[in-house]
Amino acid sequence: MTQIDDIKSRVDIVELVASYVNLQRSGNSYKANCPFHQERTPSFYVFADRQSWRCFGACAEGGDALSFVMKAERLDFREALHRLGARVGVVIEDRNTSGVGDQLYQINDAARRYFQRLLDEPEGKFVRDYLADRGLNDQTIQMFELGYSPPRDNRLLAHLTEVGHTRELVAQAGLARETDDGRYYDLFRGRLIIPIRDWSGRVAGFGSRALNADAVAKYLNTPRTPVFDKSRILYAMHLAKEPVRQKGVVVVEGYMDAIMAHQHGFDNVVASMGTAVTEQQVALVRRLTTHVTMALDGDPAGRNATLRSLESSWGVFQQRNARASQAGAVSVLQRSEAMEMLVAELPSGQDPDDFIRATPQEWPAFVAGASPLFEYLLASLSARADLNNADDKAWVAQTMLRFVAQVPDAIRRDLYLDELSVRLRVNSETLRSAMRTVGRSPGRRAGGETPPATADAATPAPSRTEDVAEEYCLAMLLQHWDELGPEAAIAVSADWFERSEHREIYRSILRARSGGENGSDGGEMAEILVAPEVESHLNLLRARELMLASTSRLEQAWKQIRLGIEKEFLNKEISQLLTVLQDEADWESPAARQVQAGKERVREINQELAGVT
Ligand code: UTP
Ligand code: MN
Repeated sequence: MTQIDDIKSRVDIVELVASYVNLQRSGNSYKANCPFHQERTPSFYVFADRQSWRCFGACAEGGDALSFVMKAERLDFREALHRLGARVGVVIEDRNTSGVGDQLYQINDAARRYFQRLLDEPEGKFVRDYLADRGLNDQTIQMFELGYSPPRDNRLLAHLTEVGHTRELVAQAGLARETDDGRYYDLFRGRLIIPIRDWSGRVAGFGSRALNADAVAKYLNTPRTPVFDKSRILYAMHLAKEPVRQKGVVVVEGYMDAIMAHQHGFDNVVASMGTAVTEQQVALVRRLTTHVTMALDGDPAGRNATLRSLESSWGVFQQRNARASQAGAVSVLQRSEAMEMLVAELPSGQDPDDFIRATPQEWPAFVAGASPLFEYLLASLSARADLNNADDKAWVAQTMLRFVAQVPDAIRRDLYLDELSVRLRVNSETLRSAMRTVGRSPGRRAGGETPPATADAATPAPSRTEDVAEEYCLAMLLQHWDELGPEAAIAVSADWFERSEHREIYRSILRARSGGENGSDGGEMAEILVAPEVESHLNLLRARELMLASTSRLEQAWKQIRLGIEKEFLNKEISQLLTVLQDEADWESPAARQVQAGKERVREINQELAGVT
């Protein structure tokens, strides 16, 4: 039962049907000539809000997504379920294991109740104080079903087994872990618990927040389980559906941001749980609205991470729109019907939680002031670059081109290029040819023979932000060695360079310029020797125009670039480590300490970067 609902909840019937027939919008629904009988005037309707279809003509039949597939493909129920499951990436469980999902939801719900009860006990008092301190009222705590997990003795496990669940299933729900010697222990210990309900309101997993400052991970979530996949859920969506349908959706990053928004009546807010918006999340939203506003934390230094995440979300939106229109639903996707992604950024250092607590009355205007992503990006990149400086300008252009390159529709792509050309005052042909070298260029033609989109196609091209920074860093070392000196070079580490040819060049510079083994100083500069494959790249970097007017600008630029590269490197490392840790839940391990240390260093870097203007 749950699996069918699960699959249905992931299918958008409008898109499904549009891949078979040409749908036209008609009031709140869509119509077409019935695919199941011959007719001249459309009597076949699809209703997005009820996710159903009906032929009012000769067939006089109707149903849901499954029955549509059964009829259209002449499949029996189970076959249709498999077919639909494959379409949305759900593998149907075998008969003997079916029901596991149900049990996991039951376990989660039992755990949710247990955590909630504990929050009300005397031992949860300090957590209630913490929440009150953060400005959350009792009604909000109830509505979001916040809880407290016992700090020791594996009491959740004891409780759940007492009420009849096996340890194995509790572990499968992600609530407990098994050690190598076969013992089980609670995953969440001494934390604020934030139950996460899915689209249909079932407790699929949990987020949890540390309550003391020196905990290794501020947030720890349920790992991936058969019923929990962070990328398929938007936090608080089960509460926000109706408001989202009416007002569009506002996506914030954090649990606390969403909770605080709801407390102040901003009930169309959901949280992406800290990651870029995924394809599956967009698919969910699409069933309710086309109007998506991302409220970004005001983070002056975390630019590259934000950029990366926006790039990825943008790719998802573009692919989504392209797919819907190529599915034959061109008329459905008239401009106004395409998903629209707007962005609003909070003042520096604030997240929505801070902002709404301090100035709730200003939230609606803040959201209303969001700009289309492309506009936002162009403005914010331009604001932090000097467009009279060729290098800065090239950087802005390159970054923007990465976004444009992801637009599958040639006409739209052209419009963006034209706009870029005007705004940056760069010849549009130059931009066009530059785009071919930036990331992956889809090279599709509008309305033409477009290859079927796959999940892969929605994966954005790898980001090249760090390449630009890395190249800039090396070019500076090559061209301004005298002013920067060996201290500068040593302040950088070869590991920070993502591309191995950059590592190679960096090491060669260091060897040649700081005297290497012989330590010869002040004399002749040794030649920079690199592998033949990277020679031409080295020459490009040598010749690269940096346009640094004064020495003071050089120092600033150097500091920014050095810290930027280090931060990029740390963030990558942290996210990799977190994936590992999520799997092993080994929160006391050296890897966990490394995450902690890395995060501290990133905080320092952010402060240092904020000081550089
Ligand atoms: P933030 O670090 O911005 O936290 O992460 P926050 O929401 O402002 O939290 P407070 O105000 O310090 O309590 C944003 C979101 O990213 C996810 C969580 O969903 C979090 O709410 N996140 C963050 C994780 O899942 N794991 C992490 O380690 C960090
Ligand atoms: Mn916060």
